[in-house]
Amino acid sequence: MATSLTLTPVGEQWPERTPGPEHIYPLHGPDFARDPFSYYDNLRRHVGAVVPVSLEETHRIRGYLVIDHAAQLEILRDQQQIWTRDPRWYRDLAEGVLPADHPLIAQLAYRRSRLCSEGAEHDTLSGPGNKALARMDTLRVGDLVEELADQLIDSFFQDGDPEAETVEVDILRQFALPLPLLVLTRLAGMDEREALASGTALHAMLSGSAGPQHTREELASLMAGLVEHKRKEPGPDLVSWMLHHNQDDALTPAELSEDVWLQIAVGRGASTAWICNTLLELMTNERLNEDVAAARCSMDQAMNHVMWTDAPIQNLIGRWATRPTWLGGFRINAGDMAIVSLGAAAADPAMRSVGLDTSRTNNAHLAWGSGTHGCPAPARELGALIVRTGLERLWDRLPDMELAVPREALEWSQPHVARTPLALPVRFPRPSADLPNGASEEWTLTSGPSETAPAARPEQQHSPFTTPPPRTASPTGKDGSAAQRGKLPLWRSPAAWWPKR
Ligand code: HEM
Repeated sequence: MATSLTLTPVGEQWPERTPGPEHIYPLHGPDFARDPFSYYDNLRRHVGAVVPVSLEETHRIRGYLVIDHAAQLEILRDQQQIWTRDPRWYRDLAEGVLPADHPLIAQLAYRRSRLCSEGAEHDTLSGPGNKALARMDTLRVGDLVEELADQLIDSFFQDGDPEAETVEVDILRQFALPLPLLVLTRLAGMDEREALASGTALHAMLSGSAGPQHTREELASLMAGLVEHKRKEPGPDLVSWMLHHNQDDALTPAELSEDVWLQIAVGRGASTAWICNTLLELMTNERLNEDVAAARCSMDQAMNHVMWTDAPIQNLIGRWATRPTWLGGFRINAGDMAIVSLGAAAADPAMRSVGLDTSRTNNAHLAWGSGTHGCPAPARELGALIVRTGLERLWDRLPDMELAVPREALEWSQPHVARTPLALPVRFPRPSADLPNGASEEWTLTSGPSETAPAARPEQQHSPFTTPPPRTASPTGKDGSAAQRGKLPLWRSPAAWWPKR
């Protein structure tokens, strides 16, 4: 057997590999994208609770799909200290055998961040971000989300025939994608230019449409610029509070910037998928729709139901074995990947016994992950706030919204990580006044950035996140300037700048 040229992350020779499984099942393709739940179910019936899979045609991105809830928990909680989230333990990645141009490669790359760390290092890298998020004033942030959601909904009426009785929009591109990004970049304290640049780079990176290395560097430099700016001029925002909680300099500026981008990237992706999946369920599940309409079921409960049936993050790619072990009857080599399939909970017979009503209130699902790398509590709160507020604004303002195509006609992205349709076309009757939110003509949004037409709602009197941190970290900031800089000019047409897919 050939000796590996690379060493493990702890500087040892990789142990000899035992032969892999005889059969590897495809975890890609149109059937998987269209209906991953039947796909998981089939795999479970034909193979079992753990399935050797390949994520692309060449069989070079391989792993073990973990469908069974109990096995998932075992890996995520990792009491035996076998599994890590550090991709340097992915032997095929270390040995350079993965296809370099695959969109997933950017997400598999090691980054010095909490996501790729374990133990004390993980706790240190998580500290400032979690403490800063816990400072969030949920009432103020709720107002911000509501305001941005209303601006996006207003923008639905800008284009198209003003005489048409029905309005049709792609709710993914015009609402579910921009809303979380606008909220998160605003909370981070970015100005409009930084937010736009970050959104574009993030989108390019996650859709694999630009060189992974190029977009990684672009994002890293944008975030570094933001952290440096907030160090000089702290304001009422997340990044300034992260700097405040890092006064002992436990984290370098690069580590802080990494955590800012991580929060924006994870928060945006999951919130977008959760908005789409819940909206789709509300439009196609008659009983759920009626129950929400009759206030027998809250929006939160509808969202919880979707965590069971169509988890926003479908698969965790991945966890890597740091030593040989057994999983679902397969011999696992050190450096092999496990893919924890949160989405497969919907196909797990044990989980299926959770009926519609129970799924609304039972939050024992794993859609937030679990263990060290599970979604941190304040981040969950923020994600739920963005999604709930956005959905409630849609529900209240456009109560007759319906899917514009049959559900079966929707096309889906490969649900390797998040699961969203490629477009979610909806239609609704044009409200009698285009601005049912009580807005007057002068508040309408213009169709694009314009120096002369500042189409702004009246400025909120509050800062978006919370108060600014005490000004010990900034010798150079001028009083009052930070709060002004942290406050963005109002989005003139938030949907207009979102890159088209
Ligand atoms: C909106 C719904 C959200 C869902 C469903 C969700 C789900 C998840 C899941 C499944 C993980 C585990 C990843 C893994 O184990 O590999 C995770 C981790 C994480 N999430 Fe969330 N998330 C959401 C919102 C957010 C938001 C709004 C933020 C930040 C503002 C955020 C920040 C994070 C961070 C930083 C981690 C990594 C934790 C660590 O490795 O220690 N999430 N999230």
